[in-house]
Amino acid sequence: MTSSHSEPEPGALVDLRSDTVTRPTAAVRAAMFEAEVGDDVYGEDPSVAALEARALELFGGPGSRLTTALFVPTGVMANHIGLRMNAGPGDEVVCDADAHIVAHEDANLAWHAGIQTRTTLTERGQLSVEQLRRLIRASGPYVVGTKVIELENTHNRAGGTVYPIEDLRAIRALADEHGLFVHIDGARLCNAAVATGTPLAEYGKIADTLSVCLSKGLGAPVGSVVLMPAEKREEAKVMRHRLGGGWRQAGLLAAAGKYVLDHHVDRLAEDHANAKLLADRLRGNGIRANVPETNIVMIEVADTVKTVTACRERNILITPAGPGVLRAVTHLDVTEQGVLEAAAAIADCA
Ligand SMILES: Cc1ncc(COP(=O)(O)O)c(C=O)c1O
Repeated sequence: MTSSHSEPEPGALVDLRSDTVTRPTAAVRAAMFEAEVGDDVYGEDPSVAALEARALELFGGPGSRLTTALFVPTGVMANHIGLRMNAGPGDEVVCDADAHIVAHEDANLAWHAGIQTRTTLTERGQLSVEQLRRLIRASGPYVVGTKVIELENTHNRAGGTVYPIEDLRAIRALADEHGLFVHIDGARLCNAAVATGTPLAEYGKIADTLSVCLSKGLGAPVGSVVLMPAEKREEAKVMRHRLGGGWRQAGLLAAAGKYVLDHHVDRLAEDHANAKLLADRLRGNGIRANVPETNIVMIEVADTVKTVTACRERNILITPAGPGVLRAVTHLDVTEQGVLEAAAAIADCA
């Protein structure tokens, strides 16, 4: 660990709503301050180029279809561009019914691209080969053909669950058998890699396109990368521009992204340990909580509004995640002390 914030005062705000709330550390701000920049729409920003090269080094490599990385403003845009490199109007993407692309991306595939999503309920947010065999359809007259399998790893709404790499490999083999593309929403792929010890590149090998967020637990202020085959790069850049994502001296942000890829991946283990601590404490107080695989704790309470409101009064922020369920997410700005305070407050207010 290289650059956490200093230990907060007891009673200070503990924000467990999401790992998107992290603020840049002094070291991240220094990297941004020192960044060399140019106009990225002209392809002239050296800090963007350095981030993209680093992302490719981590998530691509021998045997991978991912041979270029593109820096984009958000995870939503990264997923959108990635999926559109594989599918167009009238095509179908199959995914879990609670996937982020379905629940939280404003139906952008339908809105902007005429792409249909077909969903199925899953265990732990994970599609199985058996389910996919039932879902996949070959296109033909009067038949909407499946084009893409979309997988979310880790899965947000399922509570930070991690796909076993063998299952991903089996899905990749199935996709090859049917001539389908695989897009991974890897907003929190680094959490998956740290939790399992599986190298990032092994996950990368599964995907035709892969999105990774720099601005979640990794702690960059803004930004995602989307990886794809190099021959798609120009088309993806046009798509990014069409979506309003042609950015100029983006190197200031890319420098933050590169810094966190270089320095904040391994420390995600601390967030996982804090999530486990929180869940253990809650269960010790008779509250039902998942056994977190990464940094997301799902907590069952009778009245979510009451608990969220009462916790807020004690400077603990958590989010309702569905009927009777709260979500707490650990991250760079949450310390062990904060987690212990949160556990006590949630137990008192449940
Ligand atoms: C799994 C997943 N994918 C994509 C996103 C979108 O990221 P952004 O908010 O940067 O657009 C999120 C955001 O929380 C997410 O959890």
